[in-house]
Parts: sequence; structure tokens; C-alpha cells
Amino acid sequence: MGSGGARVSASLSLEHVERLRALVAARLGLHFEDDKLESLRDALRARLEESGVSDAETYLARLALPGSARAELQRLAARLTVGETYFFRHPDHFRAFEEAVLPGLLASRAGARRLRLLSAGCASGEEPYSLAIALDRLLPDRTSWQVEVVAIDVNPDALEAARKGEYSEWSLRETDAETRARYFRRSGRAYELDPALRETVTFEERNLKDADAAFWRPGAFDVIFCRNVTMYLEPAVTRAAIARFGRALGPGGHLFLGYAETLRGISSEFHLCHTHETFYYRMRALDEPRPEPRIEPEPHAEPAPWLPEPDASWVEAIQRSSDRIATLVTAPPDSGARAGPAPAGRWNLHEPLDLLRQERFGAALESVRALPDAARDDPDALLLQGVLLVNTGQVKEAERVSARVLAADELNAGAHYVMALCRERAGDLAGAADHDRTAAYLDAGFAMPHFHLGLLAQRRGDAAGARRALETALTLFSREDAARILLFGGGFSREALAGLCRARIQALGGRG
Ligand SMILES: C[S@@+](CC[C@H](N)C(=O)[O-])C[C@H]1O[C@@H](n2cnc3c(N)ncnc32)[C@H](O)[C@@H]1O
Repeated sequence: MGSGGARVSASLSLEHVERLRALVAARLGLHFEDDKLESLRDALRARLEESGVSDAETYLARLALPGSARAELQRLAARLTVGETYFFRHPDHFRAFEEAVLPGLLASRAGARRLRLLSAGCASGEEPYSLAIALDRLLPDRTSWQVEVVAIDVNPDALEAARKGEYSEWSLRETDAETRARYFRRSGRAYELDPALRETVTFEERNLKDADAAFWRPGAFDVIFCRNVTMYLEPAVTRAAIARFGRALGPGGHLFLGYAETLRGISSEFHLCHTHETFYYRMRALDEPRPEPRIEPEPHAEPAPWLPEPDASWVEAIQRSSDRIATLVTAPPDSGARAGPAPAGRWNLHEPLDLLRQERFGAALESVRALPDAARDDPDALLLQGVLLVNTGQVKEAERVSARVLAADELNAGAHYVMALCRERAGDLAGAADHDRTAAYLDAGFAMPHFHLGLLAQRRGDAAGARRALETALTLFSREDAARILLFGGGFSREALAGLCRARIQALGGRG
């Protein structure tokens, strides 16, 4: 796009920035929230100055021409992507990879003696090189295996740094002394990666948005690491990329996402694995039943009409909660309906929800059981039943109902939480904590599992752990969905739950 250093004198309008946002979403697949518009404005200003294009109109028009702006898109990608990474980031993932995934993989690939790993969104290379180091350390008889680590990223500058293989002390902050000594050489203040290891990783510039049947061919990879990447993508791009990962992995293939990323509402092709205090996914076998995908409202969509205002009255909250659940319940699979007012008079949950609020759990249970069969069997209605069963002490029945929900949708955070309550009542505190952690992982805004984890930790005598979990719960309660407080809060209000948290934190020596 030309060259030079023209100053951008005219100020950039919001419309220019919005157009850049739309182009960046369409051409690069990157998603920018409203609170990131300033960084788009800065990028636009910088690119105008660097490329010598005199005005935003011309620049945006050129960027919109299909196929004509590849070099400019690369420059924009370099400017707009977040490249934060380091060696052995999320060490639990590497432990799970080494101890839970690799042994099975080595056994199943013992015949072909071939392994292919992909680091998707590899940034400056720390992740794929960490995988290469792990394989080098762990593969018995390494030379008789054909191992490939492929690493892709949309940012050409990051890939250039990756190929160079020179790192700072900061990049090695999770790398032990033995690994440093074995795989790196000190060169002034930098650490140079062993050239032999460097050669085992292939870097490629590639956008996860783009389909390429040859690259994503069936069975192309055994394991994919795509961590801390989907959080920056348009939801539709994430869905398409995950579908490609599934095909390229094939049955039994493994997928690692970042700690704050889940497949909830994105794909039901994968089974959630929970081990080494972390989570990853395994592609289901061909004959494994797939749950009906439940499409979640997109996180940055307009607020759904059923979302209560923070100060909504109970009546309003119940109305909206009920509408929300009734909508989920009543929307036929092919209706395309997402959220909106419930069709009048059908499967009305006002009564059981209102009884739940009044802590009249038995009556609420009767009311929900009186729903027509189709409504009663919907996961949301089942979940309500599960909650009411726990609250009326019918723990075995509650567990059976939650297990039904999880059999249909193992990524249902609410059902994991009800299961946690059931396991606790059955005396299985470790099982309870596992379900709480799963619920908290699947839905990062869900306060109750953290609250419950805090209580469980306190029961175990782990004061520091209890305080941490309760502090997280306290923060989350302030913005927790009113519908969810109604369903899972045991009849307590937001303020009461926050008050309970504060009191416990203070009793545990914290500031509350
Ligand atoms: C925060 S880094 C994560 C690095 C590494 N996976 C980790 O977890 O440490 C995110 C990387 O994803 C890359 N990325 C973002 N959008 C992408 C896309 N559409 N296709 C390929 N890579 C992308 C960015 O360029 C950046 O290098």
C-alpha cells in the first residue's frame, strides 16, 4: 500500500473505526469488543502513517478489495494480535499431555511410529518448542519415531521471531534449570534454542479463519494445542476452526484450549477430559453418541431480552428467568429462535420458580413435575428439578436427574454444579470438588461452584484455598445472572450470598 511517512492530520471518525472493525472481523477473523475500539483507532492511525496513504477513506476502500491487500492484512495482523506466551505455559496442560495423553498415543501409534502435533496460534514459538522438548524428553527410542510439530500463526512478525529461536529470561519463567541447560545456550542476555530441536518444528503463516482441505485433511494431527487464541476470534470463526480441528484430529484425537476457553455452546464433537487439575478435550469415537448441540447466545451479542437489570425486582427477575427457560424449552430445534419472550401459556415456569424463591421446594417440585412430558424432559426443566430435589433432600434422585442432563450434554455447567451438591451430600468431597471445578471451568462467570468450593475447602481445613474460592465467588456474585441466582442460590438473594461470603472470608482471616 505505498510507502512513506505521511502524518495523519485529520482525526479518525468513529465510523472509520467501525469500518475497520468490520473489515478486521471479515478478513482476519479477529473480534474486537467496544472497549477495544481505541486500539483499532491507534492501529488505523499508525497504518495510515506507515503506509503513506493520505486518508482513511482510501485506506479502508483498498482494504475492502478482495485479494488486493494481503500485505496490508499481514501488517494489521502484526499490529492487532496479542502475542503473550512463554515456555511451558499452563504447566498442568503439559503434565496432562505427558502423563495422560502421550502414553495412549504412543501405544496406538506404535505400528506407524508417526506423531503429528499442531500448535495453532503459536505466537513466537514457545508453545510448539515446549511440545518438541516434551516429546524429545519422553519418547523412548526417539530416533525410530517420525515426529512433526507444525506451528501456525497469522502474525508474520511472530513467526519470524519463532524461527529465530532466541528467547529472553522472561520467556523461560516456567522452565526448570535442567531443561534450560539441556536445550538452550546462553548468548549474552538471550537464550538460544538448540538448533537440532529448532529443526523439528515447522512454522507456517496461516489464518485459522481459512479453510484449506489439504492442511486440515482427516487424520492430519494427533494432538492440537490452540490455547489463548479463540478468545480473540469472531464466534463464527471459532466454530469453523473447531470443526476443522475435529476433522483433522479424527476419533480419539486430543485438543487443548486455554484455561479461559471452552467448547460449551461451540461443539459437541469432543468429550471433556478432566485430569491433573486441568481440562482438555478428546474427539469422540465414531460410534459415541453426540449430544444435541445447544447454541448459546453469543457472548458479545446484544443483551438478551430476558437478562434482568441489576436492580430488577423479584417479580421481574422471575418473569425474565421464566421467559428465558421457557424459551429454551419451547424453541423447536428448527425454529432458529434464540431468546425472546415465551409463547404465552406454554410450559409456564413462573409457578415453580416463584415457589423456589419462597423456599417452598416441595410445592415447586410438584409444580415442575406437573409440566407436560416434553417440557419436563428439557435440560433446563430437568435442572430445575435437580435443584429442587437437592433442596428437599432427595439426593439420589437429584443425582439421577443431573446425570441424565450430563449424559445429553456433558458441558452443562449447571448440571455439574447440582452434581457437586449431590456428591457432597453423599460424602464424596473429592467428587464434589471435581464437579465444581468443571462447572467453574465451563462457565467462568458462574459464582456458585466457587462458593461451594470455598465451603468444601473449609471443611477440609484448607483456609487459604477456602478464602481464595470465596473471594472469587464474592466478585462473581456482584455480576451474576439473576436467573441463575434464583435457580442455584438455594432461595438466597444476591446480597445474602455475598454477605455469607464476606462473613466466611472474615472468619478465615481475610478482609471480606
Ligand atoms: C496470546 S497468543 C497465544 C500463544 C500460545 N498459544 C499460548 O497460549 O501461549 C495468541 C496468538 O494467536 C494468534 N492468532 C490470533 N488470531 C489468529 C488467527 N485467526 N489465525 C491464526 N493465529 C491467530 C496471534 O497472532 C497470537 O500469536
